[in-house]
Amino acid sequence: MRNLKAERILDIAKRRGFFWQSSLIHGAISGFYDYGHVGSMLKRKFENIWRDYFLGLDENFYEIQTSVVMPEEVFKASGHLENFVDPICKCSKCGNVMRADHILEKELKESFEGVSPEDLLKIIKKHDIRCEKCKGPLKETGVFNMLFPLKLGVGKGARTGYLTGETAQGAYVNFKLEFDSLRRRLPMGLAIIGKAFRNEISPRNVLIRMREFTQAELQIFFNPDMINEHPKFSEVKKYGLLLFPVKNRKGERIEKITCEDAVKKLKLPKFFVYHMARIQQFYLGVLGISKKSFRFRELSDEEKAFYNKYHWDIELHMETLGGFKEVAGIHYRTDHDLSGHQSVSGESMTVDINGKKVLPHVLELSFGVDRNVYALIELAYTEEKNRIVLKFPRAVSPYDAAVFPLVSKDGLDELANSVKDALRKDGFRVFYDDSGSIGRRYRRMDEIGVAACITIDYDSKKKKDVTLRDRDSMKQVRIRIKDLPAGLKRFLEGEELEKIGKLLKS
Ligand code: ATP
Ligand code: GLY
Repeated sequence: MRNLKAERILDIAKRRGFFWQSSLIHGAISGFYDYGHVGSMLKRKFENIWRDYFLGLDENFYEIQTSVVMPEEVFKASGHLENFVDPICKCSKCGNVMRADHILEKELKESFEGVSPEDLLKIIKKHDIRCEKCKGPLKETGVFNMLFPLKLGVGKGARTGYLTGETAQGAYVNFKLEFDSLRRRLPMGLAIIGKAFRNEISPRNVLIRMREFTQAELQIFFNPDMINEHPKFSEVKKYGLLLFPVKNRKGERIEKITCEDAVKKLKLPKFFVYHMARIQQFYLGVLGISKKSFRFRELSDEEKAFYNKYHWDIELHMETLGGFKEVAGIHYRTDHDLSGHQSVSGESMTVDINGKKVLPHVLELSFGVDRNVYALIELAYTEEKNRIVLKFPRAVSPYDAAVFPLVSKDGLDELANSVKDALRKDGFRVFYDDSGSIGRRYRRMDEIGVAACITIDYDSKKKKDVTLRDRDSMKQVRIRIKDLPAGLKRFLEGEELEKIGKLLKS
């Protein structure tokens, strides 16, 4: 990740409290990151928006919290012990181990995901690809399991466990308990926002490939007999999906295909397509991502995760990463997981639906929170003549507003504090800043993407009003203090600045 924009984003990330490598003072380990005060707010914002939106899709969707440490049996059942592997190659001179597909991708500028280690070795030899570190010959390839093993307890009773590589397994092992404690109805959705751990061979690109990261995943358990239906399909049937199917791989052509055509022409089930539409609406409508930066990428049979029948990634275009990169996925996992847990545990995973025994299938909506946070920052990053500004959609900004007294004297600071306290009481996330010139304070807030800056000046004391500055246009309106909570709410919901107060001449 060596380009000017990437460097500047990393600089802001560190200077302004977004994120940085973990344990820096002791020599950081690759693939681990900590979020500072602004990054934590932004991450939480994304998680809250995700939670409200996806749990809102169906009355029978719920959030649960599950352990990140799970016994070996879980991963035997899920297939991760055998299949959660990455291809590696080793330098015969210095012993350096690299991701075999990634080194080829870097050298030959195409994707080698899903290619077997044997075939990767043939390609490495054919193109005489050499070690990244010492240029020595690469002679061996193999696979490496990404789960982190753990010894749980001591002595005879100790068990082997693993840190979970995806939040998903937490939902599967709890499926039956939740089904019984709920409405005993399908579809039923279990969402988990939690940590996942993967011993990535070459962690890179900051929040994109980490060893510890956060996922937001929704597992939708449904009756496989109903896969070609969704009660709300008519709401999305004319909606155009932005698709990059396998057949378009030669070029970069993204096709706009309505949901009903995706069902007819691409032979995708309605249940799957309905959720693709909702995911796209989340990105374009809620997160404000532009159409040109979004696509669904179909994975070929070789590329699909071992448990998936249909697998499309959601990709966003990120200049700092050289093009479209995966931030989420929609996966039809069939009964792969529940039947695995059933056979390893001996516990039946079938449920009774209208007198019929059904082993539910799973549609998974899987989002990497950190990758999305990075994408939001990268897509918001804007350089203007005299400033750098993160133009997040207003609803996504880490803080809702900043409050400044023009100067910290003559009672302006007291009034500013009372405005800030009142806004916080109303549930707004407010940053208070009284240091430095007002121009510098605006610049600081621009760099963390705060949508509205509220300034208390000498007129505020007399007229009981304040200025509210829009981050993007830098225009300001005057608004009465008593109208501020309602005005700020409307502003954050997208109302034009001019409609919430009296525009000031610039
Ligand atoms: P990649 O092909 O980039 O390795 P993946 O296909 O293995 O990713 P999934 O297993 O589908 O990723 O994981 C679901 C989501 O979790 C991804 O879309 C991504 O957003 C996130 N994710 C996966 N691996 C990482 C990682 N190492 N660091 C950060 N986020 C990750
Ligand atoms: N749960 C899907 C994944 O992590 O790939």
